[in-house]
Amino acid sequence: MSQLDVFICEVGPRDGLQNAHHLMPTEAKKAWISALAAAGLREIEVGSFVPAKVIPAMADTGEVVAHAKTIAGLKVVALAPNFKGFQRALESGAHKITFPVSASHQHSVSNVRMTPDEMVAQVRQACELRLTLPAGQRPEIEGAVATAFGCTLQGEVPEDEVVRIAKLLADAGVDSVALADTVGYANPAQMKRLYRKVKDAVGAKLDGVHLHNTRGLGLANALAAYEEGARAFDSSMGGLGGCPFAPGASGNVVTEDLAFMFESMGLRTGIDFDALLRAREILVNGIPEEPVYGHFAGAGLPKGFRRAAQEGVPGKPAVAPVV
Ligand code: COA
Ligand code: ZN
Repeated sequence: MSQLDVFICEVGPRDGLQNAHHLMPTEAKKAWISALAAAGLREIEVGSFVPAKVIPAMADTGEVVAHAKTIAGLKVVALAPNFKGFQRALESGAHKITFPVSASHQHSVSNVRMTPDEMVAQVRQACELRLTLPAGQRPEIEGAVATAFGCTLQGEVPEDEVVRIAKLLADAGVDSVALADTVGYANPAQMKRLYRKVKDAVGAKLDGVHLHNTRGLGLANALAAYEEGARAFDSSMGGLGGCPFAPGASGNVVTEDLAFMFESMGLRTGIDFDALLRAREILVNGIPEEPVYGHFAGAGLPKGFRRAAQEGVPGKPAVAPVV
């Protein structure tokens, strides 16, 4: 496997479909995930283990995880909203399990019916359970600090509270902490300031950001986070996405545009753009009623474009990373 400079985790099958107004049939989900992996995405959040009556679009996550696990080299991620979801994710054999832990008290109660501290306690319980499993069966665990940049219910979310939750998650034993702009409130200056503060508190466990493009600042925020040292980015194909329990939340930063930004800077994402556009067609055919967004898909590659250098193939040189 060749080296990558940035790691894009496609979250469309989870964040995208949980907020869609229509259901994507299970077979279409499987075909889409296969196409995403064929385009070079090595990490895909394929669904969540929530009660089917709460989010019907996630009812087939077990079957979708089973399919995704047959794809060689793919890290299969699932979201768990509580300990019960974690147990179900464990049974499915997902490689990585992500907990959304809101720094906004109001969003936390609306989303998972727990306070942030009660949610941290569930994550701690999951980390403890993991320690009892045989070495080969221990999934990675991520704590994503949701509404880290503000909340449509509560308004401002104090930065100290974000740092406190991130630190609690790191101490609970998660492998990684991510900062999530659940409702698209972040701006690049805020991103840099908060990323630095959380990095000071949890060190290398902070490895990425989960961004929404609600106010058009998704790419600017991604770049700001990159400049602070972030190397892991969540995004959704076609800019689908949004949390059903955060009023006004809309789509994630667009995978196609994010990959183009990094590749055009000479940073290796591992993504093949022709194959990525084929995956987008499969998405559109799988859920034709749902609008898709993004600039790259309409404009295509610039004339004479060179991807970042791949192993054995010279390409565009990388920008010097600013860290
Ligand atoms: N998967 C399946 N069933 C679950 C479950 C899970 N993850 N968590 C709880 N349940 C079941 C319980 O077993 C119980 O079943 P019973 O009535 O047959 O006994 C029932 O649901 C209620 O359990 P409880 O623990 O009281 O849950 P709750 O009603 O307080 O709801 C959540 C908590 C987290 C399950 C719910 O708020 C939720 O699913 N939120 C969705 C969060 C989300 O995905 N947001 C978007 C991504 S960030
Ligand atoms: Zn999200």
